[in-house]
Amino acid sequence: MTHDEARGLFPVLEHAAYLNAGTFGPLARATADAIAKQARRDVEHGRSGKPYFDEMLATRSDVRDRIARLLGTIADRVAVTSSTTDGCNIVLAGLDLRPEDEIVTTDAEHFGLAGPVFASGATVRVARASTMSGEPLLDAIVAEVTPRTRLLAVSHVLWRTGAVLDVHELKARTGLAVLVDGAQSVGAIPVDVGALDFYTVSGQKWLCGPDSTGALYVADPDALRVARPSYFAQESFEPGGRFVAKPGAQRFDSGWTSLATLKGLAAALSLGPEWGYERIAELAARCRDALNGVVTAPDQAGLVTFEPDGDAEQVAARLLEQDVVVRNLPGTPWVRASCGWWNDESDLERLARGVRGP
Ligand SMILES: Cc1ncc(COP(=O)(O)O)c(C=O)c1O
Repeated sequence: MTHDEARGLFPVLEHAAYLNAGTFGPLARATADAIAKQARRDVEHGRSGKPYFDEMLATRSDVRDRIARLLGTIADRVAVTSSTTDGCNIVLAGLDLRPEDEIVTTDAEHFGLAGPVFASGATVRVARASTMSGEPLLDAIVAEVTPRTRLLAVSHVLWRTGAVLDVHELKARTGLAVLVDGAQSVGAIPVDVGALDFYTVSGQKWLCGPDSTGALYVADPDALRVARPSYFAQESFEPGGRFVAKPGAQRFDSGWTSLATLKGLAAALSLGPEWGYERIAELAARCRDALNGVVTAPDQAGLVTFEPDGDAEQVAARLLEQDVVVRNLPGTPWVRASCGWWNDESDLERLARGVRGP
């Protein structure tokens, strides 16, 4: 696939400089077609019967396999969820932490991770690291570790500054259980779960999947309690009696995801070209060069955050009027651009021109 062919997969790029995969990736025509085709079948033929159910299970299994390959693991360690937030909640609820247990996190986390962390019942220690990157970021997190630390809960790529945290080094240095929020990493940079314990995936961002899709990697499924069992958690169930959990991480699958959505996600997961990560890094570097006031350090992931002249919210709104899609980051003077493998230099030029103003 060439760069132009990749771009041609996404109708929105025919008119917009769409630079917001950090929120929602662009939808490919093939993804939308897969969803629409299944939705039409549901309308015309109903949503029942063994063949229908078997097809749903097979598509779920296909999605699980594809995500496992993406994370460098096996399907048995992957749960199909509805979001990163969902994955974080599954982990935090299942660990049964108490006030005497500590979680170390940072003040740079998205609510999708921070919410479940603060609701967990554990004591939370927060590394003040919101503008850090590289070694100082790592050091600030390690400095909060105490003998009571039960979990480190951090993002692989920080959603505001775009900084990449060396999560493997964090694991190696502490030996503690690590929950990684992968919302801004999976699909944007190569990911290998390696020795990490829990890793979340958002389907709708850098993987360009439908809304409400995601996954959760669990290194040792037997060591995490099934705190929120869905239909898919049960291997067997005796009414009024015992429930035997499915083997592997399937037991953590969230509830029903429509067959149309699963088909759309499977289609989206087959899009990424071999050169995708390299191209993202190249475009992010060009994006940094094209803008003033860049906050993101060089050589991070696909997010490039900058401080424009003027109010960030108004700048983002003005850009949207010009069909340049980025977002401002509430509570900061910053605007964030997301550079995907589907973008090209013309999108970055439109962004730079739009930011400079008339
Ligand atoms: C770092 C980070 N974590 C979590 C989320 C929430 O993702 P989801 O909607 O998949 O729960 C986001 C979304 O913007 C994010 O940037």
